[in-house]
Amino acid sequence: MILRVPLLAAVVAAVVASPAQQPLSLAQHACPQHHPLTPTGRNAPLSAHIQDIYDSPDFQAKTIQALSGAVKVPSESYDAMGPVGEDPRYAVFADLHAFFRKSFPLIHSQLNVSTVNTYNLVIHWQGSDPSLLPILMTGHQDVVPVDPSTWNQWEHPPYSGHYDGTWIWGRGTCDDKGPVVSILTAVETLLGQAFKPTRSFVFAFGIDEESSGLQGAGKIAKYLQSTYGKNGFAAILDEGSGFTERFGEDTIFVVPSTSEKGYMDVKVDVSTLGGHSSVPPPHTSIGILSALIVTIEANPHKPTLLRTGTPFATIQCTAAHAPGIPQPLRDLAHAALTDDDALEKLGKQIGLVDPAYKAMVETTQAVDLIVGGVKTNALPEGASAVVNHRIGEHSSVHGLQDHITKLLAPLASQFNLTFDAFGTSVSSSSPSSGHLTVSDAFGTALEPAPPTPLDAEPWKILVGTAKASLSESKRESVVGKKVFVSPMLALGNTVRTDTKSYWNLTKHIFRYTHMGDSDGYNGAHTVNEAIRADALIDNVRFLTKFILNWDEAEF
Ligand SMILES: *[C@@H]1O[C@H](CO)[C@@H](O)[C@H](O)[C@H]1NC(C)=O
Ligand SMILES: *[C@@H]1O[C@H](CO)[C@@H](O)[C@H](O)[C@H]1NC(C)=O
Ligand SMILES: *[C@@H]1O[C@H](CO)[C@@H](O)[C@H](O)[C@H]1NC(C)=O
Ligand SMILES: [Zn+2]
Repeated sequence: MILRVPLLAAVVAAVVASPAQQPLSLAQHACPQHHPLTPTGRNAPLSAHIQDIYDSPDFQAKTIQALSGAVKVPSESYDAMGPVGEDPRYAVFADLHAFFRKSFPLIHSQLNVSTVNTYNLVIHWQGSDPSLLPILMTGHQDVVPVDPSTWNQWEHPPYSGHYDGTWIWGRGTCDDKGPVVSILTAVETLLGQAFKPTRSFVFAFGIDEESSGLQGAGKIAKYLQSTYGKNGFAAILDEGSGFTERFGEDTIFVVPSTSEKGYMDVKVDVSTLGGHSSVPPPHTSIGILSALIVTIEANPHKPTLLRTGTPFATIQCTAAHAPGIPQPLRDLAHAALTDDDALEKLGKQIGLVDPAYKAMVETTQAVDLIVGGVKTNALPEGASAVVNHRIGEHSSVHGLQDHITKLLAPLASQFNLTFDAFGTSVSSSSPSSGHLTVSDAFGTALEPAPPTPLDAEPWKILVGTAKASLSESKRESVVGKKVFVSPMLALGNTVRTDTKSYWNLTKHIFRYTHMGDSDGYNGAHTVNEAIRADALIDNVRFLTKFILNWDEAEF
């Protein structure tokens, strides 16, 4: 929640007091920008000294080698893998562990390294003050498979880990071995400096983020909850969105995902009597299914913008600080702080700010699969389609089920179909000319994530650390740029990180990888995945500062 009543009152008071500064002052209140945060207490000398280590060519070469070596182990995860112990394909993770043991000897000799479900790694670093809740830092060891037919499109082979002086190449360099190796490198370096944490830190790396997450984070979560208890962590940092310059040159937005959309694949299944095509009824199951799909597409979910939600915080930050936002849109965002009509209008126009934002305020729907019919002289006995949904933060799995059920019920009766929706009988028809069933297609429905609080200290530590890391960075692409922070609702391909298993462990979940738009060569999950070596090193700096800042925090 970003706006609380007392804050709103303060905003209104400020407007009344200084009308000339109205828009800016409102915007800044709507999107508070926290200060860069760097250790100033007992960790300050180490924090400064460690920068020199990270600047050294030796350290950088070793870190690049560590990632390169990790990439050489093709730890692919496939859809529909069996459990660990049955499916032999997990054995590759033992090779990765062996490589980690060789590359990070201090972690393996000084910390408690355990495995969960054989191949998930959980590393515990005990702090001296057990009254402070530990921090959980996570990532995944698996990678999406490389399609063999694309091997020849790679500039360097996908499991080469080749370093060309600028880029480290290969599957997993960005997602997620780069971030995992960065965490391990930060910890190994701190151990090398004899750092003894006050707070405990836990590192957990799953094995199937890219498929179901059930053998990996699902099992890790159970272990962590039984070991550390419900809400047993002060915060979780997992992979996620990074920083972006997409709003204009010379301005960097740090955009951690503080929420994730929900998910549901809805199967719409029509079954009718078969028979010969020479004496057909007016509508076959395919014709009826088509009518249902037309109705679904004609009734998209309405955009909904709530002042308490993540998308509202995102839009306020963009409106306040992004260059190039047209003034009328800025004014509308400001008005939406207090004016309900403006809020509704902003929800409808949010795509003008950034086309991707439209998906943020809606439950999206896409009809992605369809099957039906076998032969032209036989009436199809069944036809079905699957509609993919990403559920908005304001809604829920139940809200979506309700929407579809109400939408399709009139058609079911119009076509004289009995109707079952999500396991419940909605209506029966007599005489019945068939059956309509809607269901969770693959049993993969997921509620939207509980939004991470933005008015809390953990958020300030995360964004303060990111800002300080950017302001200290010596990289040309970063130096001298203005930095703003905006929370984000994860969309599309970042939806459903391993954190979906971790909701019980803390309210403060951050999906953030300290990397910019141009630090990956070609994105993840495709050919020519590569990471800039200096981005990898900067990520290590960020993670080190994150640990040291948290270690100094006293709550
Ligand atoms: C390892 O675990 C033992 C037993 O729980 C504990 O006493 C010790 O402090 C742990 N060491 C580290 C570095 O976490
Ligand atoms: C539904 O049943 C009614 C009553 O039997 C019939 O009049 C109507 O034509 C049927 N509608 C369709 C689409 O089959
Ligand atoms: C959260 O905790 C509840 C109760 O302890 C448990 O039933 C549920 O499975 C947990 N959820 C996850 C994702 O682990
Ligand atoms: Zn990933």
